[in-house]
Parts: sequence; structure tokens; C-alpha cells
Amino acid sequence: MSAPRHLVSIDDLSLAEIQGLFRHAQAFAQDLRGWSHQCPGLISASLFYEPSTRTRLSFESAMLRLGGGVLSAAEMSSSSASKGESLADTVRVVGSSYADVIILRHSSEGAARLAAQYAPVPVINAGDGSHEHPTQTLCDLYTLWLECGKLEGLDIVLSGDLRYSRTIHSFVFALARFGANIVCVPHPGFEMPEYVVTRLRDEFGVEPVRADVSRLGDLASASDAVYLTPQKPHQLSLFTGEAGVRPELLKVDALYVTRPQTERYSKEEMARTGFVHLDKQRLAADPLRNAVVMHPLPRRDEISGDIDQDPRSVYFKQAGRGVPMRMAILAFLLGRIDMGTASAPADVRSHAVTVGSNPCPNPTCISRTEMRHVLPRYRLASRLPVRASCGYCDAAIAAPLVGCSTTLHFHEADSSLVRRIRPDHLVFFESAAQAQALGFRPAGQATELV
Ligand code: NCD
Repeated sequence: MSAPRHLVSIDDLSLAEIQGLFRHAQAFAQDLRGWSHQCPGLISASLFYEPSTRTRLSFESAMLRLGGGVLSAAEMSSSSASKGESLADTVRVVGSSYADVIILRHSSEGAARLAAQYAPVPVINAGDGSHEHPTQTLCDLYTLWLECGKLEGLDIVLSGDLRYSRTIHSFVFALARFGANIVCVPHPGFEMPEYVVTRLRDEFGVEPVRADVSRLGDLASASDAVYLTPQKPHQLSLFTGEAGVRPELLKVDALYVTRPQTERYSKEEMARTGFVHLDKQRLAADPLRNAVVMHPLPRRDEISGDIDQDPRSVYFKQAGRGVPMRMAILAFLLGRIDMGTASAPADVRSHAVTVGSNPCPNPTCISRTEMRHVLPRYRLASRLPVRASCGYCDAAIAAPLVGCSTTLHFHEADSSLVRRIRPDHLVFFESAAQAQALGFRPAGQATELV
């Protein structure tokens, strides 16, 4: 039997596959009741360690509409997890004779990656902590594609809590790959995490530039907006301004609003106030004239009910599209539809590397929250500059020194010699003392073979 295909990160899909999913979702949406011949006899298991309404119910509706059955564990915290069972053991069992696909939501970053390592059936990440939420992103991209007719060159403003919103992280990676223009208008203190910006820069050639969003009025007044300039030349209509001057936002195709993810906040973060509140008056800002307003839901106070009837507000349509899109995702991963395209290419990040310091620096990474059961894993995040990240949650590993496991020599990470070390021989160190304690020596002048 071939290895199951998982959906842990939005990167697990090629752009052609994402477009294929749009087309299948569109066909399913034509007649939601006409597809029960797709997955008869197959069963999905929803393992939800965190609350959910839309994601779980739309997945279960999708599976039932495809003619399959569902096992629903909506409160996994009351399952054997409360007796100390590891996630690895749980998915091994559920993926044996119980279910043909696992839909997992978990509070720890990297949980879906771990589950995919152990489950004998496809694992779908329905949200892992503040890390990723790829199926929400597919619903979001599908909505943008239906509403705007394309993705490339769209001008998208992301507003609210960009730090902890997992929907945002999967979304920006996909938008960057599709060549959309991204303007981040975070609530102060809730800027995009460094590891996301680093990846955007290292892998997609996206550079963050401070932008002038004063035309958005008090929707953005407190925010230090950042424009992520893509590799490809962006539509010049988005900004005016000369080199060295803050580019000014002129028009927006979509405004994506997120709620404060208070369940992940520290005490200090809880005390912050003044989150954005989009209402009729703010939506009247000139650049938003033709912008669709999106939100993954649930909303709290960030979108006022007084714009629900505005034709630009598409958040309920966006949620409704979750069913046909998740029908497409399930049918694809269960091998019931053929995309007829090449799958996502293996990237540099598939290389495992060794890191001198353990554990992962992210305290809510699955490798920390299930420390008794999980060994840390690291991978190459980028070859040039050389960087490592956690193999579960993608947290960046601070490592100014890099060694070679065969010569046992170490170098400054930016030394040109590091480029000659084979990826599987790379060892990352926090300090010279750490490298030396592990038996490595500083590299001499000689350019030894590595
Ligand atoms: C999102 C989530 O769970 O991350 N909800 C969803 O899946 N539609 C967004 C949120 O909770 O804010």
C-alpha cells in the first residue's frame, strides 16, 4: 500500500492541485446532494482537542454528503488523552480499522505533523495551535477566486491578530505562492510571527516594507502596516510613491479580518485593548470601495452586524463554501478524484538536520507538550542563509554556528564553507561552548572536504 497523502500544511499542495480543488468544489456545490456515490463505505474520524463549530460540522457534512460515515470526537480532552495517552498512540489506533481519514484539531503547534508520522491513513490538519489551518485557507482562496475571478495580483489587507491566527499563516504562504500582494495591518503587539516573515523572505523572496495605510482611516491608524513585496512585480495600481518613500495604499480587493485569539494570550496580551472594529463608517474608506470583507469566523466585536447586509461582506458565504471545498479535500485525499496534476514538489525543508540545543524553543510545540512521547525533530529551513527550524511547529532555531557531523568542525553560520556541508551532515549550535561540549572543534583555515 502506498503512503497516505496528508494535508498538514498548505505547502503540501501544489498550486495546480489547489486549482483542481476549486474546480471540484464548484462541481460539488452545483448539487450538494448528488455525490453520495463518491465515498460509500469510508469513514472519517474527527478528533477535536479544541472547540469548533464550522470546521468540524462542515467536514462531517462533507463526508456524509459524499456517502461516507463519520466518527465524531468533539471533546478529545475527555478521551483517553485525559488518562495520559499520547497523540501518536491515539491516531495509530483510530487510523487502524476505525477510520479511513483523520481530521485533527489540537492546541499544540505541530500536532498534525506528528499525527501524520504515525497514522496509517491521511491526516487533515483542522488547526494546530497558532500554527496552520490549511483547509480554512482553501475555503478562503476558493472564496477569493469566486469573488474576484483570480488570485494573482490581488491586493489583500490582513487585519487584527496576525500573530496567533493560524488561518492567517496558511493564507499568506498560499497568497505569496499565487503572487497576490499582501498588506499586514496588525493590531499593535499582534504582528506576524518572525518565523512566518522569515519563510516568506527566504522561500518566496518576499520583502517586508513599511506601508502608508492612512487612507484606511482609523481602521489602521494605530497599526504599523507592513507591505510584503512579492518577487514578481506587483500591480502598480496598489501603491503610489517613489523609492524610499512609504508606499501608499490606494485600493484593496479583499479585507481579511481576524478575531483576537484570546485563548492563546499571556496575561499582558490579555490586557491590551483597542482591537479593530469594522463598521459601516470604516468600510466607507475610499480604498475599500470594491473590497470583499472576509473573516474565518467566529467573529466577536471586530465586525459590526451593521455591515452584514452589505454586498461586500462575504464571510457567511465563505463559511458556507466550507462544505463543497471539504468534500473536494476528502475525495482527493481518499483517492476518489484525480487531479491529473503533479503533486507538490519536495522542498529543501524535507531535509532533517541535527540541533545542539534541545528542546524546541516554542513552549507550546507538540514536542514540548508531549515531551514524554515525542523526540524533537529539526529540519533545514533554508540553505542560503543556512537556517534550521523545528520539524513540527516551524519555530526558527537560533544557531549562529554550524558544524559538519563527519569532520566535527564548526563554522560561523554565514561562512562560505557551510555551503559545502551536505544537508544531512549539518549540525546547528547556539554557542561555541555547546559545540565543543558535543565534541566539535572550530574550523581551521584549511578548506577540508566536508
Ligand atoms: C478559525 C480557527 O479555528 O482558527 N476558525 C475556523 O476554523 N473557522 C478562526 C478563529 O477561531 O478565529
